[in-house]
Amino acid sequence: MLDTASNRPELPPEIARRRTFAIISHPDAGKTTLTEKFLLYGGAIQMAGQVRAKGEARRTRSDFMQMEKDRGISVSASAMSFDYNTFRFNLVDTPGHSDFSEDTYRTLTAVDAAVMVIDGAKGVESQTRKLFEVCRLRDLPILTFCNKMDRESRDVFEIIDEIQENLAIDVTPASWPIGQGRDFVGCYDILRDRLELMDRADRNKVAESIEINGLDDPALAEHVPAQLLEQLREELEMARELLPKLDPQAVLEGHMTPIWFGSAINSFGVRELMDGIGTYGPEPQIQSAQPRQISPEETKVSGFVFKVQANMDPKHRDRVAFVRMASGHFKRGMKLTHVRSKKPMAITNPVLFLASDRELAEEAWAGDIIGIPNHGQLRIGDTLTEGEALRVSGIPSFAPELLQGVRAGDPMKAKHLEKALMQFAEEGAAKVFKPAVGSGFVVGVVGALQFEVLASRIELEYGLPVRFDASQFTSARWVSGDRQAVDKFVNANKQHIAHDHDGDIVYLTRLQWDIDRIERDYPDVHLTATKEMM
Ligand code: G4P
Repeated sequence: MLDTASNRPELPPEIARRRTFAIISHPDAGKTTLTEKFLLYGGAIQMAGQVRAKGEARRTRSDFMQMEKDRGISVSASAMSFDYNTFRFNLVDTPGHSDFSEDTYRTLTAVDAAVMVIDGAKGVESQTRKLFEVCRLRDLPILTFCNKMDRESRDVFEIIDEIQENLAIDVTPASWPIGQGRDFVGCYDILRDRLELMDRADRNKVAESIEINGLDDPALAEHVPAQLLEQLREELEMARELLPKLDPQAVLEGHMTPIWFGSAINSFGVRELMDGIGTYGPEPQIQSAQPRQISPEETKVSGFVFKVQANMDPKHRDRVAFVRMASGHFKRGMKLTHVRSKKPMAITNPVLFLASDRELAEEAWAGDIIGIPNHGQLRIGDTLTEGEALRVSGIPSFAPELLQGVRAGDPMKAKHLEKALMQFAEEGAAKVFKPAVGSGFVVGVVGALQFEVLASRIELEYGLPVRFDASQFTSARWVSGDRQAVDKFVNANKQHIAHDHDGDIVYLTRLQWDIDRIERDYPDVHLTATKEMM
């Protein structure tokens, strides 16, 4: 293993060994398979296939999950922790489907790095590009894994060029594939001068690696056919001339991505990638907050909620708030202050997510993700501290792009519907607006599929059949500004005013023209498409 590149050497060792990251990819590139192999090498599961198998068992529990399966999408994100060598990896799963981009965005606020998986035959696909852009907004370090090299794939230079041009980031090869498709034999590990040979016979076997003393080492010829060896030497020479050298600082700043080639299904190249995450991935980073930022090495514990998931286990009607620890050493039973309500909370049953099981978390360090079961006190964007009034910033809520009205099939059940909707709003699964005039609700989402998911969850979890109808509105904007000006504006536009689940004022309209007009007519009123979740 290589030495750990450390940008903040003063971190306590328990924090310094943590690597908290997400995998971003286009559906089908191999995220699930790679996750499985991570867990396999991390010792969290005994056999690859278990994540999927367990997933399957879980999914058959409900039709909603069935829908998730049928569509091949992962609606719910989760977090997994496991040890690898001297490292503790916290892998936060991102929902891959574009309809869940807001959830994904918030998930990415909880990690320090991202692993970008691309399919060697397809290169950079649309969803990868979108997710990459989100990472770019935060200058997240990105490590790239080019998967499915056991199949016919594109030319390596072409893939690298495409990443550089499409995503405007420098790419440096950490390994180089030898042959491709049926002729693929393995990779040359550029960083360690090693030959990694793939074993096609046993998909769960860790690849054989052979120490090589540079490209002129005669040992190479013993393992690689002459023609492929000649090609490898030529390509590596070209790569050295044309491509930038690995610069760990540039990786940490998000300007350069190292790329590993492999085949997740054959467990090939995965260990090298994991070593890379340990070596070049960042330690827990400083968290932006108000009125001051939070450093991971601070002895006082703090953390923030980046996701709330309701009814994770239909047997217990609980909600789990996913909390990213921002500083300190948390121990089970600690009393933390819920900054928004200023109330103390005893955290008695926090959970840690090991593979697809939950376990009680006896302790957690800055960088870790824990789940806190609660009855609705914890919302996305909330900060927990040992008393100081800190509020983590930068977790946005986006104006929905699609709006629909919603009604309970049975009018007597309107109150139940309100309860269900409020819960989903708090979970961040949808925006719910209660119009100031009239009855019913307007629900806003980012992608159309979310309406279907909501309808089936409301029916399953609350036993309420619901109908979504076209709404007269298409856009929502949060209203802020000078109090008197806002009051005057609200009174004059009652038909367009609603309140979100926090009670904040929202302006609903169907015309961009209206929004422009208001900005002209009410200079002291601000209409915004995002609201910071605090
Ligand atoms: P995702 O989570 O990114 O959507 O991808 P997933 O891991 O589910 O992989 C998508 C498909 O690609 C799966 O095949 C998987 O077996 C295959 N795959 C993953 N890694 C590799 C690889 O290195 N080489 C090759 N040749 N295939 C790979 P599937 O047929 O859709 O599913 P399954 O029946 O194999 O489970």
